[in-house]
Amino acid sequence: MVNPEKLLIERLAPAFAQVAGTPVDPSIRRGRHADFQCDGALGLGRRLGRDAREVAADVLRLARLGDLCPTARVAGPGFIELDLDPARLGTLLADIAADPRLGVPRTDRPETVLVDYSGPNTAKEMHVGHLRSTIIGDAAVRILEWQGHTVLRRNHLGDWGTPFGMLIEHLLDIGEAEAAHESSVGDLTGFYQAARRAFDADEAFRERSRRRVVALQAGDPSTLRPWHVLVAASKAYFTTVYTRLGVRLTEDDFFGESHYNDRLPSVIEELSAAGLLRESEGAQCVFPEGFTNREGEPLPLIVRKSDGGFNYAATDLAAVRQRVREEGATRLLYVIGAPQREHLEMVFATARSMGWLPAPTRVEHVDFGYVLGDDGRILRTRAGASIKLVDLLDEAVARARAAIAGKNPDLDADTRAEVARAVGIGAVKYGDLSADRRKDYRFDYDRMLAFDGNTAPYLQYARVRSLSILRRAGIETPDPNVVPIVREPAERELALRLLALPEVIEEVGATLDFHRLTQYLFALATAFTTFFERCPVLRAEPGIRDSRLTLCDLTARTLALGLDLLGIEAPDRM
Ligand code: ARG
Repeated sequence: MVNPEKLLIERLAPAFAQVAGTPVDPSIRRGRHADFQCDGALGLGRRLGRDAREVAADVLRLARLGDLCPTARVAGPGFIELDLDPARLGTLLADIAADPRLGVPRTDRPETVLVDYSGPNTAKEMHVGHLRSTIIGDAAVRILEWQGHTVLRRNHLGDWGTPFGMLIEHLLDIGEAEAAHESSVGDLTGFYQAARRAFDADEAFRERSRRRVVALQAGDPSTLRPWHVLVAASKAYFTTVYTRLGVRLTEDDFFGESHYNDRLPSVIEELSAAGLLRESEGAQCVFPEGFTNREGEPLPLIVRKSDGGFNYAATDLAAVRQRVREEGATRLLYVIGAPQREHLEMVFATARSMGWLPAPTRVEHVDFGYVLGDDGRILRTRAGASIKLVDLLDEAVARARAAIAGKNPDLDADTRAEVARAVGIGAVKYGDLSADRRKDYRFDYDRMLAFDGNTAPYLQYARVRSLSILRRAGIETPDPNVVPIVREPAERELALRLLALPEVIEEVGATLDFHRLTQYLFALATAFTTFFERCPVLRAEPGIRDSRLTLCDLTARTLALGLDLLGIEAPDRM
């Protein structure tokens, strides 16, 4: 499947190579004065010591763009301005209209990609950091699967370690049934805090907790049983949150820290055999090259504590090794907040020097910033507690319901509830994904729920409008033989946007910069809005009417696909 930019590169790259004697990037982008602009001649002219305009003219002559861009011309200091032939645009549009994938190819290099995301901690409420990881990770899963990769979803639950001593003791104190009830209904914070209070207040409880950790790590059956109760209740609770969010995580994707327990001793053995382990203050450490503290001293990655317990880093090392060696992943994505960068880099560096990440395997930290509240500080409740994720979602849905009731009072109650859910949850996800993930962003209901601007409701609404035109025309799918006529500037702009989808998908699949996909969808919806205002559809003469109906249908399908890849639902009415 071809699209305009690819077609232009195919023609221009060989022409450039001929002029330069070596391959040159034609450097093509959307233009101000033409559909596309090619800047390659500027740099090449400088390199060859020739006038860029002359270079551009040579390239143009060799590229023979007559059928594609009959008016291609040199402009300014040596740009090439390229307007696509309208008939050619029409056939390109007809091609994508006939393609269920809308012109986006499946990857020709499918691989096994492992996505580590969400990762909440047992018996603890999920916080907004986990929300970001879940939303970004889910979008990564969706786009990579859609490109044709095999995707392994991994929810690296914190289900092991020191806190379980006090959690299990507290559970035994209040009784299993009560503990299971509290945790599965989502009062995780209450349960955790009560355990914490007992731990802080009571020396005997502290002592019991410490003994309990040892028993847990030794696999004592009477300790493992209550541990299972806690973990199962938390898993059930997390699953309700995932269902609510509409993300693709299921219990089959839960591979908690405990999953790697059996492999920890052999990780230590391999590290030790490779001579990488050193003892420091009783703990077993790796000192990966290039990591130092503020004083310039080598920084340790502690893999086994002085009390003999393994920790977070040991588990992550076991996980990397297993994911590559046993599960065959060649690309590993860790969707984790930026504060864990150093930890991950030290783990990756250690794994690399152990040969656990052999080429062509790549590992990437898909990092993200904090979610901030109105005051510009990390999002918390007024009382200073961390906000419960479900409360956040409930509030978004409630606000969406009110907005929809105002906009379309005719919707029946069930439909309104459905639409409010899609809009409310969609707005939260879109608000997250439309921010550059590396930066912090401000959580603002009003902004993310606005029907104008770069928001989920705006895109969802643009799709509803295009569907309603089709509905009023009395057709479900337009005639597949229609070749769109691209005449008006608004039609041309919309056509170029529709045809640019493959590049965006390719870029986002590589970078996981989802704000590039949201920018694309926003530009598409904006182009559609202009088209909608300037180009009558139903009242147009028959040929034009069919052509415009096809453009409406393509817009609706592209928006639905783009939103779906972001994990956002697109309601048919709102
Ligand atoms: N449970 C961790 C946390 O809450 C996140 C786990 C991330 N994944 C990993 N492989 N370390 O911070």
